[in-house]
Amino acid sequence: MAKAKDTIFFCKECGYESSKWAGQCPACHEWNTFVEAPSQKDNKAGVRKGPTLRLLNEESRPVSMSKVKATEDERITTGIEEFDRVLGGGIIKGSLVLVGGDPGIGKSTLLTQVCKTLSDAGHSVLYVTGEESLSQIKLRANRIGEFNDNLKLLAETDLDIIEAAITEEKPEVAIIDSIQTMYRPDVASTPGSVGQVRECTNLLMQLAKGLGVSTFVVGHVTKEGVVAGPRTLEHMVDTVLYFEGDSQGSYRILRGVKNRFGSTNEIGVFEMCSEGLREVKNPSEFMLIGRPENASGSIVSCSVEGTRPILIEIQALVAKSGLGNPRRSSTGIDYNRMNLLVAVLEKRLGFAMSDCDAYVNIVGGVKINETALDLAVICAIASSYMDFVVNPNTIALGEVGLSGEVRSVNMMEARILEAKKMGFTTCICPKSALASLKNIKDMELIGVSDVREAISKLKQKR
Ligand code: TYD
Ligand code: MG
Repeated sequence: MAKAKDTIFFCKECGYESSKWAGQCPACHEWNTFVEAPSQKDNKAGVRKGPTLRLLNEESRPVSMSKVKATEDERITTGIEEFDRVLGGGIIKGSLVLVGGDPGIGKSTLLTQVCKTLSDAGHSVLYVTGEESLSQIKLRANRIGEFNDNLKLLAETDLDIIEAAITEEKPEVAIIDSIQTMYRPDVASTPGSVGQVRECTNLLMQLAKGLGVSTFVVGHVTKEGVVAGPRTLEHMVDTVLYFEGDSQGSYRILRGVKNRFGSTNEIGVFEMCSEGLREVKNPSEFMLIGRPENASGSIVSCSVEGTRPILIEIQALVAKSGLGNPRRSSTGIDYNRMNLLVAVLEKRLGFAMSDCDAYVNIVGGVKINETALDLAVICAIASSYMDFVVNPNTIALGEVGLSGEVRSVNMMEARILEAKKMGFTTCICPKSALASLKNIKDMELIGVSDVREAISKLKQKR
């Protein structure tokens, strides 16, 4: 009889398992994602000898939907408003939350602060660290403030010991920093590998659900922008939060990517300062600090993140190119979208962009994936190309189609009201949206139907 193989292959992206290596994953069609991992020798799952009839006990008997009690109100609020909002109004009891982000972005700082407000409010919290020593944690904690006895620390990477600690302590909230450093001794692969990360998350999920411990798991993001380990990690947990921002700059954005208990795409804005993270209650104001005066190529627009309108500044620089192939670069918006908008300007307005370098930047390092900014990007490029300064109290909103037409976007009213609140007086917007904006007072709405009209109105306004 052939000897059973003692290694199997995993897809790094989706967790697909196979006994043989393959260049392309048959499940997610990614190339070169297979890694070898030792197989579980004692894995007898799937071997079933004959029917097994079991008597159902009370818990495993199906119940009717109308008899199930919803546990809607079992949320613990942390008191950090920006954090609670992203979670959908607080921490759900027994939920498993993945907090992902680049190394050094402030995940541990954020969670230490969450520990502080929770323990101050009388909730028991266990912080497990696999990355730092207890004294290093203490150094960070000293910058944040005084902690009371409700917060317990554990420096451990063996998940079996952590399981015992959680079972004994039964904290209301547990924090695992980070999942890549944890390992289960019965899984024969190194910490951080696909198999370990998956098994560890599995065990934490069982603990969270079984004991009702709300658990936060920190996950580092790899260079490709995915949480290291299998993508399946994201499918396993209840909520996925990403902490992003430019680690050089001071602002940080916490974004909900998946949430079983609330809306996604809510964001929380923070500022990193010497005493940890500070909440930014008015992100629009924060994003517009330091706007250049009397400079061409800059205009403000409004993006909606979840339910929250946020004003952002869009900058463009168009300069004569010395190269045969002009350079294009975009920061914060999709590169292909920018190229499309440049092509619209070339075709519809006759701009000679083929011998100009063009750079577009969203100030503040936020990444926006919304077509509502199209018109503002067009205006910024045109302002730089034609070298005129846009009136500082004007914003532009609208999607731009391939034939240069300006179209309406969702939540126009909320966007314009946010601009009004921040002192803007004029809005270049799609003509088709004017009818729905009758209720807006004290704001000059200039309806335009195509990019040519938008640019000429913008030049008149300056
Ligand atoms: P950290 O939370 O350790 O990042 P992560 O866990 O995501 O790897 O944060 C590290 C950065 O935050 C580090 O560069 C120092 C900075 N920092 C401050 O600026 N102020 C503070 O009060 C703290 C605690 C950290
Ligand atoms: Mg950390």
